[in-house]
Parts: sequence; C-alpha cells; structure tokens
Amino acid sequence: MTSPTAFAADVLAGLSRELKALPCKYLYDEEGSRLFGDIMDLPEYYLTRSEVEILREKGGEIAEIIGPEQANIIEFGAGDGRKTKVLIAHLLDVPADFTYFPIDICGNAVEKLASGLEEEFGHVRVVGIVSEYLNGLEKISRPDSGRNVVLFLGSSIGNFSPREIVTFLSNLHQRLCDGDLLLTGFDLRKDIDVLVRAYNDRAGVTQEFNFNMLRRINRELGGTFDTRKFRYYSIWDAAEGAVRSFLVSLCAQRVDIEALKMSFDFDAWEPIHTESSYKFSERQVFALAETTGFESAGAFFDSRGYFMDSLWRVKKT
Ligand SMILES: C[S@@+](CC[C@H](N)C(=O)[O-])C[C@H]1O[C@@H](n2cnc3c(N)ncnc32)[C@H](O)[C@@H]1O
Repeated sequence: MTSPTAFAADVLAGLSRELKALPCKYLYDEEGSRLFGDIMDLPEYYLTRSEVEILREKGGEIAEIIGPEQANIIEFGAGDGRKTKVLIAHLLDVPADFTYFPIDICGNAVEKLASGLEEEFGHVRVVGIVSEYLNGLEKISRPDSGRNVVLFLGSSIGNFSPREIVTFLSNLHQRLCDGDLLLTGFDLRKDIDVLVRAYNDRAGVTQEFNFNMLRRINRELGGTFDTRKFRYYSIWDAAEGAVRSFLVSLCAQRVDIEALKMSFDFDAWEPIHTESSYKFSERQVFALAETTGFESAGAFFDSRGYFMDSLWRVKKT
C-alpha cells in the first residue's frame, strides 16, 4: 500500500520535472478504481471485452497448461478481477488445486474482490495482498510442491516504458523458478482511430478518471487543484507506439499543496503527463520473452486480433 509520505514524495518529484508528470499508479484510489470499472464498460474501451473473449474461449486451454498440480495463482494489479473470474471458472473445471493471491495497490479493490470471489465460488482459497506488484510477490511463499503462475492482465504492462518493462520482467524472472508460468495481456497495435477512441470516450469517464488524481491530491495532501481549469487530452504517439495522456492547464495558475508546504506554477497550456499505454506488435512480445529469460508456452488472441494473452514459461539455464 502507498503511504501518504510516498504519495507526497512522488507528487513533489513529478510536479518538479520539466515535463510535469504524475505516476499512473495514483489513479487508483477507491474512487479511481470505481471509475476504472466504468471505463471497462464503455463502448469505446475494447480492451476488456477482447480479453474477456480470450479467457472465455481459450481459458480452457490455458487452464489445461496450468494443470491440476498445486499452484499459487498470483495476480498483479487484479482490480475487480472480472476477467480472472472467467479463468478461475476454467481452472475449477480442470480441476486445478490452487490458492489465488490478488495483489493490488488499492486496498478497497482487494477487499471487494476477495469477498466477491468467496460469494461466487465459495470454495476458492483467496489471500488478498495490498501492495505494489513485486513487493507483493515477496510476501507469498511457494507451494511445497507445484509452481507459481503469475497473471498480469489488462495490458497494465503497457503502462511501463519499454525500458521499465525489460527491468520489470527481468526482476520477475529472477524471483520465479524454472517452470513457473506468466500470463500477460498485451494490447496490440491497431487502427489508430480505434486506439484513440478507447482513451477519449464520449461520456467523459476517462477524463473524470484522470481528474480524480488531482482530486486525490486535494483530498489526501491538501491540494488546491481546480479541475475546471484543466482539460484531459490524449494522443497516439506513433514514434513511441503509445497512447499518451495528459491533463493540460487551461490558464496560468498556481496550485498549493499543503502537505508539501509548496506551490506549483502552471503556464497556460502546460501539460501534466498522467499515463502512457504502450501497444505492441506480436514480434515485440516474442522478443520480450526471449530477452527476459522466458519461453513462449502459448499465444491467445480475440477474434478481431485486437489483444493477445501471452503465456510464458520461466527458463533457468
Ligand atoms: C488498468 S487496471 C487493470 C485491472 C485488472 N487487471 C483488469 O485487467 O481489469 C490496473 C490495476 O492495477 C493496480 N495497480 C496499478 N499500479 C500498481 C502497482 N504499481 N502495484 C500494484 N497494483 C497496481 C490498480 O489499482 C488497478 O487495480
């Protein structure tokens, strides 16, 4: 879980940069997670529907590869777990012997997910962990026999920069054992209009989701952000291969943050970078596996070829 001090330190670092930025993990407090739930239901946000389709149609195959042996199913950034529930149903059909460990920075999301799963599946063993991804993994001991199966769904991996992705996957590989599995959601490169619409919905929910980060600074750190003086703006950066999202200051303004005992000046039209969402080619995904010490154990696509769930096995030589 993020302490208020860590939040304050990250806000200070981010707003002191030449290009102001706020780490996207702070989008997800209780209100942010609720708004993200609304985003997943938007007609423009194809990502969730694509991945649900993959897990519904191909989840049986994935569950067979995971197999009946004892396993820890560990999920990074589990959120409301709506996709994981589809996979869990397939795992129960195998039947697989597993404990499910949802790890999420948002305590409220973990709590809701754990109680919801008990209600829906009854007999599934669930141990929720409120933490950042890799720190959460440290808290889980391996099953006596069997393996760890890590899930990183929803294309959250695309919020890292290409360099951060390699560091993250290499660190993860180091912490896993030979034969462990990793199932990652990768949003694939596609028609630019489809991509841009997914982050610019007509109902304005994505804008509210981004504004919530400013409101969170007001709530938790005594900030004076007025969201009416900002505009949400998001573009496809073809050179980077990412949708990049910003909150743009509509006028010259000063914002105070009590917890930091500091003020921050914004020029008119000055942006705060809030999130990048990298999109991948199949070739990039397979190259990433190889660079970071994994081997491919299966690639699963939705019918439109919009999204890929890539299953990797840890190779230790
Ligand atoms: C884009 S949502 C995806 C949720 C879910 N995996 C899905 O596919 O629907 C990202 C989730 O990861 C969590 N999260 C973001 N950054 C995190 C971090 N650094 N460590 C742990 N959880 C994080 C958020 O709270 C949120 O629930």
